[in-house]
Amino acid sequence: MVVDNFSNSKPAALRRVKQICGKDFVFYENDVRDREAMKKIFAENRIDAVIHFAGLKAVGESVRKPLLYYSHNLCATFNLCEAMIEAGVRIMVFSSSATVYGNSDRVPIREDFRIGPTSNPYGETKLMQERILSDMVAAGELRTAVMLRYFNPIGAHESGLIGEDPNGIPNNLLPYISQVSIGKLPYLSVFGNDYDTHDGTGVRDYIHVVDLARAHVCALRHAVGSEGAQYYNIGTGIGYSVLDIIGAYEKATGRKVPYRISPRRPGDVAVSYSDPSLAASVLGWKAQFGIERMCRDADRWQTMNPDGYPDE
Ligand code: WQD
Repeated sequence: MVVDNFSNSKPAALRRVKQICGKDFVFYENDVRDREAMKKIFAENRIDAVIHFAGLKAVGESVRKPLLYYSHNLCATFNLCEAMIEAGVRIMVFSSSATVYGNSDRVPIREDFRIGPTSNPYGETKLMQERILSDMVAAGELRTAVMLRYFNPIGAHESGLIGEDPNGIPNNLLPYISQVSIGKLPYLSVFGNDYDTHDGTGVRDYIHVVDLARAHVCALRHAVGSEGAQYYNIGTGIGYSVLDIIGAYEKATGRKVPYRISPRRPGDVAVSYSDPSLAASVLGWKAQFGIERMCRDADRWQTMNPDGYPDE
């Protein structure tokens, strides 16, 4: 079953997911912050566990609109957890983020590294939600909370039917490169080439979105059979710079990606990549796809859907 208010997605995406997996599923067009709607949903369905994705996620927007992010992301979690407790549902998989590590001075990043302070309100809401869920586990309100710390999800399903469809001008690197590559945008601005990295540009741990989806299936299976608050890095353990990604995208598509070096973006860290070994040993999950496959699948989605999902 799925609950979504379409604030950052469209009905076409759901239709295509059903087409890809050949299954139908119950869908509620509701806002997770709607207390009455959530009460009705839990009353009408037998729910054993919840995967909580609901939230706003643009780092830059969160700096410009902090109250929107604190209110939206935290109230959604408060309301969902209250509905779960009332219905006796005590297992959650939570969409957390590597941003909880803030500006880590060591890599690869492990789950037992210090967390916080983060560099933006979006990251703070993820940190707070992790604390809320772990306190609920400690108090016995939840039995299990498996928190997945995403590194940089990119790419699209190999069918090209579903993929990343940002509102307006993309904030993130890959969708921006995809739009430059098909000529929708003139060039990429590379935010700084004076970082202490192999080529001066920012290094991140990019993970294929289908590998990320598989991580949720493994996490849910594990959550149903385990207890406690648990944290797992979901990444490949490999760091690529912005220029590495441009090269990989050009190789995967055969098209040049014009770019210009620009000043650093406030809030960016130089290097962030994971040690994903805990997810491998405990969840039995490991990323399968490499950077060229991520670029190829991203390009297929963008080429097939130059304007993203249709409105209806
Ligand atoms: C990657 C690199 C930029 C755009 C993201 C999400 C955040 C979280 C973590 C899930 C950086 C550079 C970017 C551009 C550029 N995900 N860049 N030109 O900042 O690591 O954060 O992943 O929780 O929600 O925002 O990703 O793709 O914005 O940046 O040079 O036009 O690309 O400086 O080095 P980031 P990003």
